[in-house]
Amino acid sequence: MNKHVGILAIEVYTPKTYISQSKLESYNNVSVGRYTIGLGQDAIGLIGGDIEDINSIALTVVHSLLEKYSIDPMEIGRLEIGTETLIDKSKSTKTVLMSLFGNNKDIEGVTTINACYGGTAALFNTFAWVESDGWDGRYGIVVAADIAAYAKGPARPTSGAGAVAILVGRDAPLSFSDPREKVTHAAHVWDFFKPDHSVEYPKVDGGLSQVCYYQALEDCYIRFVEKIERSGIYDENESFDADSADYFVFHAPYNKLVQKSYGRLFFIDARRKYEKEKMKEDQHNIMTGEEENDEKSNNSNNLLQEWITMPIEETYNDKVLEKELKKISMISYESRLKDANAASKLIGNTYAASVFMGLASLMDKLGQDETNSIGKKVVVFSYGSGSMASMYRLHIRQCEQQRFTLEKMSKVIDFKSRLSSRIELEAKELDDVMDCREQMHNVGCPYQPIYDPSQRLFPGTYYLTGIDSNWTRRYSRLP
Ligand code: ACO
Repeated sequence: MNKHVGILAIEVYTPKTYISQSKLESYNNVSVGRYTIGLGQDAIGLIGGDIEDINSIALTVVHSLLEKYSIDPMEIGRLEIGTETLIDKSKSTKTVLMSLFGNNKDIEGVTTINACYGGTAALFNTFAWVESDGWDGRYGIVVAADIAAYAKGPARPTSGAGAVAILVGRDAPLSFSDPREKVTHAAHVWDFFKPDHSVEYPKVDGGLSQVCYYQALEDCYIRFVEKIERSGIYDENESFDADSADYFVFHAPYNKLVQKSYGRLFFIDARRKYEKEKMKEDQHNIMTGEEENDEKSNNSNNLLQEWITMPIEETYNDKVLEKELKKISMISYESRLKDANAASKLIGNTYAASVFMGLASLMDKLGQDETNSIGKKVVVFSYGSGSMASMYRLHIRQCEQQRFTLEKMSKVIDFKSRLSSRIELEAKELDDVMDCREQMHNVGCPYQPIYDPSQRLFPGTYYLTGIDSNWTRRYSRLP
């Protein structure tokens, strides 16, 4: 029996304040277009100074999920968090969230860390629990949340902050219908890591992190397509390429990387096609005793012919190839990825939450026309430095239950009114907030926050009221 384990509901949290990327260009005295075109970003969601931390944003998003979907805390049997924003090396954010669950102490799950991938690991764990014989009928909640903060320099414009809470159960409108539709890429690389506990910032090798992202994506994609195409296991003889999927959602550190990475799927498709044709010809030649005919194989990939047989490592920084791929993939990007990226262009990187922010952005759009979205499939690519990556497929389906629908999801997420009610701050505030957080990080305890919650936060947002001399953090919620 297919249990249609998957996502029943989504809530997101994005900061009340933001910085415009074009104003940041002029404040940082860099060339016009460097962040808006070069990175493809429009704005940064700015965390509320020193009154927000990972616990507070997770509290906000989970409280709001329970409230907006009328979920009784007693209905929850599992709660997992994915984050890399650590404020405690032992006490997990999951345990802080228990303050929202009243007398319900019977909730499995803890916090998972691996750069931007922790939320995906938490989601897979929760899917597996709901799918298993050990499931007791209660829902699971997965929270992916992070404050993406970078030291001064070229990476700082890719900062951001946000949280996503996901309700997992059976008979879901966004279903992980076939758990075999999933592949993973795990590797040991030093592209982005946080070895220095005296700062909130990562050590990051920007160029290397881009290549690692491409490699993880390509490895996942090749094996994902092979799995989908293996006839008799999934849809009968389904063939799959970048142009035939309904929608994609990618982890989005900044929009330009997503656009370029999507283009590379077309390159991988062309290489796969070439290899398939070549194999067929070789087999034909062996049978007939004729000579190999490379020219024939190459015909179908004329546009990319120059790069088709090149070692893949040599193609990562090839600007001419990049331009060709952009031309080939542009129209497809508009229909398959643009909606998923709409939110992150305005919020920035949210690390573990980023890929789920993309999923929320797409569901916000598709839920506005649920009937026509039924049957559509969404391919999700999650990447976390270090590195861990997975590609999997979700199916939008008609449910038997009526309580959780795509339409309801869309109404709750509602990025349009959420983001249009934000307050723009001067570009300088990005550095001010980062400086303040640096200081807070070093002061330790006791600490009294200086930012004003009523100015910096939306109603219903949790904030840090202080850290006492015993390092205990206290939180309150704005009415
Ligand atoms: N107008 C238009 N484009 C411009 C302009 C301008 N005025 N100035 C620069 N650009 C373009 C460049 O040509 C370049 O284009 P390309 O991507 O097509 O080559 C692009 O802007 C980026 O410029 P660079 O000089 O290459 O890089 P920059 O110094 O701006 O740094 C980087 C960008 C490396 C992404 C940096 O922001 C960073 O380190 N970010 C954090 C790491 C990251 O996000 N990695 C991704 C995966 S891991 C993760 O999620 C954390």
